[in-house]
Amino acid sequence: MTDDTLGFYDTADLREAARRRLPKGLFEFMDRGNDDEIAMRDNRAVMASIKLKPRVLNDVSVRHQEITLFGKTQKMPVIVAPTGSAGLAWYEGEIAIARAAKAHGVPFTLALGSMTKLERVAEEAGGNLWFQFYMWPERKLSHQVIARAKDAGYEALVFTVDTPVAPGREYNLRNGMTIPFKFTPRNTLDVLAHPRWLAGVWLRYMMTTGTPRYQNFPQETQTKITALPMGRSSNFCPNITWDDVRELRRLWPHKLIVKGIQHPHDAVLAADCGADAVVISNHGGRVLDAAPAPILTLPQVVDAVGKRITVIVDSGFRRGADVIKALALGANAVMLGRAPLHGVAAAGEAGAMRALQIYRDEIDRVLALLGCTALDQLAREHVSLPGD
Ligand SMILES: Cc1cc2nc3c(=O)[nH]c(=O)nc-3n(C[C@H](O)[C@H](O)[C@H](O)COP(=O)(O)O)c2cc1C
Repeated sequence: MTDDTLGFYDTADLREAARRRLPKGLFEFMDRGNDDEIAMRDNRAVMASIKLKPRVLNDVSVRHQEITLFGKTQKMPVIVAPTGSAGLAWYEGEIAIARAAKAHGVPFTLALGSMTKLERVAEEAGGNLWFQFYMWPERKLSHQVIARAKDAGYEALVFTVDTPVAPGREYNLRNGMTIPFKFTPRNTLDVLAHPRWLAGVWLRYMMTTGTPRYQNFPQETQTKITALPMGRSSNFCPNITWDDVRELRRLWPHKLIVKGIQHPHDAVLAADCGADAVVISNHGGRVLDAAPAPILTLPQVVDAVGKRITVIVDSGFRRGADVIKALALGANAVMLGRAPLHGVAAAGEAGAMRALQIYRDEIDRVLALLGCTALDQLAREHVSLPGD
């Protein structure tokens, strides 16, 4: 008999398997936050402080967790968030996660800083694909990549706006995960100590496409990842403004999503600029260490724009119960970053499938325990916020 859990019972198991499989420097890049990691810890601490209040004696024998997002029905209320390093977690990890997302009937967001070409992901995986990008200082180059995403059939454009300058991540410097990449005795030993990753990911790239590159960059800027800062796929663009959102609205004919909103007034501005959705996000606690947990900002954003545009939230959602909390507070859907990434690092497509299955099972269970049979029955009365 096969064990379809693969021995992973919760997302913490996937994280632990990823930790064992990946070189330490790479795992830390994928897993950690920035500065003192206060925001990252707060995302979880605040989540834990929010309680769910069950209603009882409702018949919950038949349940489903479908939602309608942008007019499309999807099987679960989650979206795979963009994580630039999926292709280093696993050979062509972007395709692996995208396939898992398709199988689970949820959107997959490909990051600009992926190792795999956006056109290949569309061909090899298909499904409901969204494309995330950071603006380059030379706008024309960004607009060219966006045109490629449009031609390849991506259904939504996710403009990430929360990182105008480089975040502080000292651990990348200590691990030598920075520019110019230098093979030090320390990081060489780190890689050699993880032969499964070395053979299954790095050497496989070397034998096929060569040193992994940011394949979605225009030819003239395409550089080997060894010549760029880890975790940053291009120059930072400190002069992005709302004019860029208005310009994108003119260029992009499909759904436009602004990711990295943390203030209700910015959500209003995004709606005013024609965005179809915002993602309330502190980037998983990886950018501004003093940022609040997005789940706490969520009710204010829902009050401000919830009737006009779609509201998505991410950062720190590790359990189905966390997703339920956000939906009960008015979110339309939740993005998942590290959990599918840990899943793919642990076991490729099967690991990413398992990550999504864990959420599916937990959401189903918590829904029943709250006395509900569908997500649209969730309401504010099911949630107790700190201080309520
Ligand atoms: C390793 C890693 C790489 C990421 N890369 C990107 C990226 O390229 N673009 C982006 O908008 N967000 C990126 N994010 C942020 C995620 O999209 C998402 O906002 C965050 O991971 C959500 O928090 P969670 O990991 O706690 O679920 C990255 C996150 C991680 C962990």
